[in-house]
Amino acid sequence: MDRIIIRGGNPLRGEVTVSGAKNAALPLLTATLLASGQHSIAGVPKLRDITTMRALLEHLGCETTFTDDFCINTKNIQSNEAPYHMVKTMRASFLVLGPLLARFHRARVSLPGGCAIGVRPVDIHLKALETMGVSIAIDMGYVNASCKKLKGARLSFDIPTVGGTENVMMAASLADGVTTIVNAAREPEIVELAQALKKMGARISGEGSDTITIEGVKELNPLVHTLMPDRIEAGTFMVAAGITGGDITIKNCPLPYMESVVEKLREAGLSIEECGDTARVRRNDSLIPVEVKTLPYPGFPTDMQAQIMALATRAPGSSVIRETIFENRFTHVAELERMGADIRVEQDSAIVTGVDRLRGAPVMATDLRASASLVLAGLAAEGTTTVSRVYHLDRGYENLENKLKSMGADIYREKE
Ligand code: EPZ
Repeated sequence: MDRIIIRGGNPLRGEVTVSGAKNAALPLLTATLLASGQHSIAGVPKLRDITTMRALLEHLGCETTFTDDFCINTKNIQSNEAPYHMVKTMRASFLVLGPLLARFHRARVSLPGGCAIGVRPVDIHLKALETMGVSIAIDMGYVNASCKKLKGARLSFDIPTVGGTENVMMAASLADGVTTIVNAAREPEIVELAQALKKMGARISGEGSDTITIEGVKELNPLVHTLMPDRIEAGTFMVAAGITGGDITIKNCPLPYMESVVEKLREAGLSIEECGDTARVRRNDSLIPVEVKTLPYPGFPTDMQAQIMALATRAPGSSVIRETIFENRFTHVAELERMGADIRVEQDSAIVTGVDRLRGAPVMATDLRASASLVLAGLAAEGTTTVSRVYHLDRGYENLENKLKSMGADIYREKE
């Protein structure tokens, strides 16, 4: 396993380019299962999660190449089973369920199980598919699903689940009739998936709102698409500039999808100048404490919660960060405290009292965004921080240490 070593204290200077969005790439890759042929997606980031998804698609019988573009041939699918060892590695593997049912009317997909940040059930996915005519039996941790034909239905989600909206949108694209999702997720990655499906011939409207309508078609065509940039990676770089007192330019930055993050970071004392898809982010004066509540889009994203907590540890005064999406997404708190942060957790809220300095320490990553917050804290800490188990980081950040190094961070990776 690798670890990342950071000698903190360097204000970041220079420019960085945001990679493609992990959480848009994963559903787009599963959407290719809906149509037989040669697909090509440009801008896919080189991440562990993409490697995991690629292995699953090849397990199903797809042929893939991934040099500049991610190319995939879905003509010879031989299996409709997503095995446990793959799905437990990455829960987004569960997104093959909808496409496999839509194209082959049968699928055997392992239940994802929980992860460090929460139980993360898939009950809403399954209830929606049953309403669309799928018979579902759970056996030995697997979802055994089959249907004569998927039929359109009116579905009302208790929670605006991102994955649930994606699975249903893909299934409904080839169903008989019209499907309406009420209380659908509104994330930009949902809009990206809808636009990609429409390029394939799907008939979808309302994406980006809380009601999405999909009119099923007979068949879809292969996808050629260029992926949107990653708003969470971009937000992470903004925090990196803020926590180090730097001045950086972020290119390929999806600013229209970052309003809640930009607004909150400005409240925290960052100067963020927007010019097209470029953002110049500086912090000249002291940081300011903030109140944050994570919400479904367009609210403040849960995937930025750990990162803004790292920033808040250096803001004189008291910040309150409330996590409303996942029940256990404070695993980074104990590690930040090892670096001298002053944080008190009370149920779903963390009260962060700013400290004059963070001190470098050996810390351990537990999930993707927690590991990002430890790297951010290390950039600002006095002394050396060693972040172990960075395979978590590699799931969602492409080449992070080299991107930070190019802006003046004293950071490198070594074998543990
Ligand atoms: C997606 O996960 C993202 N992953 C997550 O990003 C992100 O944190 C999450 O959306 C919320 O924005 C990908 O897109 C690959 P949900 P997903 O279904 O789809 C509950 C990262 O760091 N729920 O919207 O799994 C669930 O327990 C990752 O990049 C049910 O109760 O999230 C959670 O509390 C982490 N029943 C809430 O809804 C269901 O059937 C939101 O989950 C489905 C979800």
